[in-house]
Amino acid sequence: MTANQTDLKEQLKKRLFDSISAQIDLIGYVPDDIAKLVKNFTFDTRDVDQASNDMGFETGLVENEAITANNQSDKEKLAELVNGHYDKVFYDYDGMMGILHRDTQYRNIGYWDETTLSQDQASERLQDTLLGFIPEKSGRILDVACGMGASTRRLLNHYPAGNVWAINISGKQIESTRRNAPGCNAQVMNAVDMEFDNDFFDSILCIEAAMHFETRQKFLEESFRVLKTGGYLVLSDILLTSRERLAQIPMFHSPDNHIETVEEYYELLSDAGFSSIVITDESQNVWGAHFLRAVNRIHEKFYSGDINIIELTETLWTYYNANAVMGTCLFVSAQK
Ligand SMILES: C[S@@+](CC[C@H](N)C(=O)[O-])C[C@H]1O[C@@H](n2cnc3c(N)ncnc32)[C@H](O)[C@@H]1O
Repeated sequence: MTANQTDLKEQLKKRLFDSISAQIDLIGYVPDDIAKLVKNFTFDTRDVDQASNDMGFETGLVENEAITANNQSDKEKLAELVNGHYDKVFYDYDGMMGILHRDTQYRNIGYWDETTLSQDQASERLQDTLLGFIPEKSGRILDVACGMGASTRRLLNHYPAGNVWAINISGKQIESTRRNAPGCNAQVMNAVDMEFDNDFFDSILCIEAAMHFETRQKFLEESFRVLKTGGYLVLSDILLTSRERLAQIPMFHSPDNHIETVEEYYELLSDAGFSSIVITDESQNVWGAHFLRAVNRIHEKFYSGDINIIELTETLWTYYNANAVMGTCLFVSAQK
């Protein structure tokens, strides 16, 4: 961090502290008001990781050494970080993700428009839009990084269970997928080391996960290998705002693999062998819309008395922080 950045950081901390302190002082002579605001909050101290994890989104913003998962132990370390985060927040029904995803087993941001009323609808719309890129929904399909299996289950609207495969790096999530999508072939597997034969799948779907893969390039090469000629890879992905931000979040891939532009993404797909490549920037209707809804929902929780002023302030701060990290949300379709 440069001297300037350190200055700014300290100034920001002081400014926030001063302004919140002033507000507390202002209402401080009416103790009942404060008691009402904080309810029965316990003032225990929490570490930075805990505070940023609570929101249930990928903002473990701790300064840390980035992992370059070129060898086995680094791969295991990365898997541990990814699982440590998602296996906790996906199943924490009282945490922020639990609150925002109460009505759904999907664990993604979704794809919103003015008619979308719930997270479940937004996530279904995201999946259906990606599936729309596959002209013929037949043969075998693979759901990469299937989460808790909501997308795998929805594939059963188009494919018989025996033709649907799902993989995830987490055993816990694969157990959920087996429950949510009975009869499908769900396996613990790393997206960059697939254990499938060449030319095995007709289509591959991957929703909001490639930003974790060490590397995206390996994942695209693996996808190309296991797809039949003419088969489709369809995915949604998120590019972070900068490699510096990426370096702060150890559960994402190494900053060396940061992609800045749609053009770079296109090149990566093309180098892996893909053609008929279509990439669209859907940021506004993916993170943009999710962010506004989330902030709204957090305020509703406050007004209904489910969270207190401290939780409201912390959660909003974490969400705004995430907002600074989220770069471009892409939809991708490519053919072998
Ligand atoms: C934001 S979640 C999306 C989950 C799911 N696709 C959905 O839409 O509900 C990202 C997922 O990527 C999985 N993941 C991360 N790295 C992985 C890897 N290398 N191989 C397979 N899955 C991975 C995580 O376990 C998590 O389930």
